[in-house]
Amino acid sequence: MGADLIFYNIGQLVTSRELEKNSGSSMENIEILENGYVAVENGHILTFGTGKVPNNLVGLNTKLIDVEGKVLSPGLIDSHTHLVHGGSRENEFSMKISGVPYLEILKNGGGILSSVSATREATAEELLSKAKNTLAKMLSFGVTAVESKSGYGLDLENEIKQLEVNKTLNLIQPVHIISTFMGAHATPKEFKDSPERFLDSVINMLPIIKEKELAEFCDVFCEKNIFSIPESKELLSKAKELGFKIKIHADEIESLGGAELAGELGAVSADHIMAISEAGIQSLKENQVIGNLLPGTSFNLCKAYAPARKLIESGVEIALSTDYNPGSCPCENLQLIMQIAASQMKMTPKEVFKAVTINAAKSIGKEDTIGSIDVGKKADFVIFDAHNIDYILYHFGTSHTQSVYIGGSLVYKK
Ligand code: NIG
Ligand code: FE
Repeated sequence: MGADLIFYNIGQLVTSRELEKNSGSSMENIEILENGYVAVENGHILTFGTGKVPNNLVGLNTKLIDVEGKVLSPGLIDSHTHLVHGGSRENEFSMKISGVPYLEILKNGGGILSSVSATREATAEELLSKAKNTLAKMLSFGVTAVESKSGYGLDLENEIKQLEVNKTLNLIQPVHIISTFMGAHATPKEFKDSPERFLDSVINMLPIIKEKELAEFCDVFCEKNIFSIPESKELLSKAKELGFKIKIHADEIESLGGAELAGELGAVSADHIMAISEAGIQSLKENQVIGNLLPGTSFNLCKAYAPARKLIESGVEIALSTDYNPGSCPCENLQLIMQIAASQMKMTPKEVFKAVTINAAKSIGKEDTIGSIDVGKKADFVIFDAHNIDYILYHFGTSHTQSVYIGGSLVYKK
């Protein structure tokens, strides 16, 4: 019979399988095989290994692909984005570079609230078409799965509109979309004088979103003057009771205790954590919460980077993502984020690859089906036009993608 498809002559096969922890950091414990092959059947990984491809895998109809000594890795996963939104905010750019703080722009009705107006005004078709274009760009950087949050509707109708776009995207294009409800992203202008009532309205949306199966995760912008620790706790506890998995935008600007809350509530990930405290680091480690770092946001807002080395050395598992959104990080290039993580946060190439493959899969609850090259997982791969992973991080500002496969089908070729 033989496999449907075999990739051979792979210079570095990044399987991202986690090796037994040795004395070093567990962020470095991923497997990279030299001179590898991978065989695919029915869109899933049949087997993989090193050296000569076993004869019994090759049948009359097997398609053989020579990787020419280059790198093949699991499809990259962008585990934190605000993919679906209307408009753009280049009008705030000069304010930003002249030093007006991000939260100040929001306080004056701009920032997230400006994107809320644009998203409310847009039709579902317009949002769909814009997000689909963005996904095509993400795919060109090797991204095969994307987490996508709502949070620019801030009322039931418009939150549902955004989440339904996520659902449709899963049907009309190849990149896997994982949907997150983030009704608590900012307080909309109609609740300006009674912000506490807005939280109630978000809590009331939860069962409806759940019943319609529009989101797997619930997230909140836990930040000074946005949603407090008690408010975030109230919302996320209700979400958890209803069966949502949870994430938190934690300790992004101020050290508020979001990471501690993430540990207490058993969140899957705590995201941003640029201002995380010592207790927050311990909480993530003890409760096995993934620290999801978004260095593109630090880069763009001219803020400190999250303490990646300290987190890693303390035993916290790290994911890396773009935070793609119209304000703090209008960037869909996950490879650039990986390069910034290496050069600015001093993450090693192995750590970076772990953070955008298996750990990113964990951060979206999909580690059983994607994120590593393991028998039975989806055949989602990137082939890089590079002979080793160090080159991909060293040569920055460009895309090294040569081709991308999702479920064993070629979906992008340079
Ligand atoms: O993750 N921090 C809050 N939310 C987004 C930014 C959204 C926006 O500016 O539109 C973030 O950075
Ligand atoms: Fe975000």
